[in-house]
Amino acid sequence: VDSKTSQLIDLQEQAAKLYHHILVNTEGGQPALDYLHDRGLTDDTIEAYQLGFAPSQRLLKPFFDQRQSDYQLLRQSGLFIENAEGELRDRFSERVMFPLRNASGHVAAFSGRLLKKADDQPKYLNSPETQLFNKSRLLFNFDRARSAIRAAGEVTLFEGYMDVISAAQSGVENGIASMGTSLTTEQIYAIERTTDKLNVCYDGDEPGQRAIARALDLLNQHSHLQLSVIQLPEGQDPDEYRQAHGEPALKQMLTTARETPIQFHLRYLRRNRSLDTDSERLDYLNQIMPMLAQVQEPVELDLYLNQLATEFKIDKSALTAQLKQVQRDTA
Ligand code: CTP
Ligand code: MN
Ligand code: MN
Ligand code: MN
Ligand code: MN
Repeated sequence: VDSKTSQLIDLQEQAAKLYHHILVNTEGGQPALDYLHDRGLTDDTIEAYQLGFAPSQRLLKPFFDQRQSDYQLLRQSGLFIENAEGELRDRFSERVMFPLRNASGHVAAFSGRLLKKADDQPKYLNSPETQLFNKSRLLFNFDRARSAIRAAGEVTLFEGYMDVISAAQSGVENGIASMGTSLTTEQIYAIERTTDKLNVCYDGDEPGQRAIARALDLLNQHSHLQLSVIQLPEGQDPDEYRQAHGEPALKQMLTTARETPIQFHLRYLRRNRSLDTDSERLDYLNQIMPMLAQVQEPVELDLYLNQLATEFKIDKSALTAQLKQVQRDTA
């Protein structure tokens, strides 16, 4: 680590400390603290993740000016926006601040969540890419989760920061999240260096389900990870599930509910289909046959064939014959 890098890290960590101080010790932080408490986060969790609050655009700039911080360093930190005159202003304001730490646990960047809904602003605003922050490489919570991942022998991949934090508060500490954008191969390789099992636990809404299908594809193509899906009730994300059913229920689900990728696809491809005409049913079967043709385990395959035979009232031998044909065609 060169001195420029360590100075940039130092700046991020000072900012994290200040945001956190504003949140937990000041009157200006009270609305944000109430907001986090209302969402069910404990003070221990707020402390552990060093959550913070950026109250206005007049926080960091005067703070670092007083410390006579180097202008170029401030410019390159991503914490400010620069106007045409080269003046810097705080990038984050009226946002709950989530420090984003790199794999070594150093603050590399921030994500700020709007306290109040505003139509003209994104719900989460991230730092721009900097020398410290490459958003296709960073995995949220990877630094804290690593030992729990090793102990559990698996990692759980969530969609959002709040889902990771909710899971950890509920006793499931092997959770990580990518940066809102979809998963990247660099992130997959980093995960694969730590474990050989991964559970995808994305939101139970349509975008979440679509993202599961995409993530499974990518993980399949670029890793040998053993994959499962943790399916949430329609429309809920893990954090909402905790708020609705409590921490023990979330923990129970995260540690026991497992669906194979094929089971996920069987279910996912049925969405928005009635399957009450023969042609719809045939169409569905034709879409899933190529997937079944990939299943290596005879017992697992038999399970799916039995399930389909029963459900569609089709002779299992007909399904098997069709499967053989698909296997021949794709061989
Ligand atoms: N995200 C983002 N920018 C947005 C919306 C979402 O970067 N405008 C990213 C964030 O990393 C977020 C993740 O996508 O955590 C999942 O989005 P979503 O499900 O909408 O957010 P939640 O994590 O559920 O956030 P919250 O519970 O705070 O509403
Ligand atoms: Mn503290
Ligand atoms: Mn979502
Ligand atoms: Mn969500
Ligand atoms: Mn949420």
